[in-house]
Amino acid sequence: MSIHIEANRNDIAETVLISGDPLRAKYIASKMLTEVVCYNEVRGMLGYTGLYHGKRVSVQGTGMGIPSTAIYLHELIHEYDVKKIIRVGTCGAIQPDLVLGEIILAESAYTDSNTNLMYHHTMDYAPQASADLLQQARAVAHQLTIATRQGMVFSTDVFYGEDLNRWDPWIERGLLGIEMETSILYSLAAKNNIKALSILTVSDNIITKLFSSSKEREEVSIRMIQLALEIA
Ligand code: HPA
Repeated sequence: MSIHIEANRNDIAETVLISGDPLRAKYIASKMLTEVVCYNEVRGMLGYTGLYHGKRVSVQGTGMGIPSTAIYLHELIHEYDVKKIIRVGTCGAIQPDLVLGEIILAESAYTDSNTNLMYHHTMDYAPQASADLLQQARAVAHQLTIATRQGMVFSTDVFYGEDLNRWDPWIERGLLGIEMETSILYSLAAKNNIKALSILTVSDNIITKLFSSSKEREEVSIRMIQLALEIA
């Protein structure tokens, strides 16, 4: 049992899918896993363990943003000995050709979060996905004919920013999307020598101002979840 997760040590699998939205964790467990056990309800941050085609996998809500996500990552890694973490999330696209529902494999994450400096002795660490997991995701996506785009993303601490042009430098540098968690996932994974990958579905396009409904987000996320579970 840890401060924010009420599970016993062996209740959580070596591989965990994380989702900002705890109800997405519930959805994944109920739709995609068998022999499901709910191991956490503390603060409504649901966590489940089950089987995907015989493989033991857990799925854990983290809440939105880096500070909340860092708490769950820390406890999963240090208290439950988790070795592989795959984020299944959404992002706002910042390239005009990215359409709603498109799947992004995040190879690295820029951030405006001070946590990057705090965790890395005030140095600008460049958080990267695990290269082998990224390669595996590409290969499996190809086999399953799931279209993906691979590129850099930006993890922000500020969803509702006041500067309307704040994404311009990142658009110019070719980043694909804005979200709020990948940077800390890759940082803590590297620091603790575990594997991590962030798979993101485009839920809105910040340039074209198109966004999907929560129902559409649920439907399009199925392929992303399938991809994540296949490489779990
Ligand atoms: N900004 C930040 N995080 C997000 C967005 C966004 O537009 N869309 C999905 N996650």
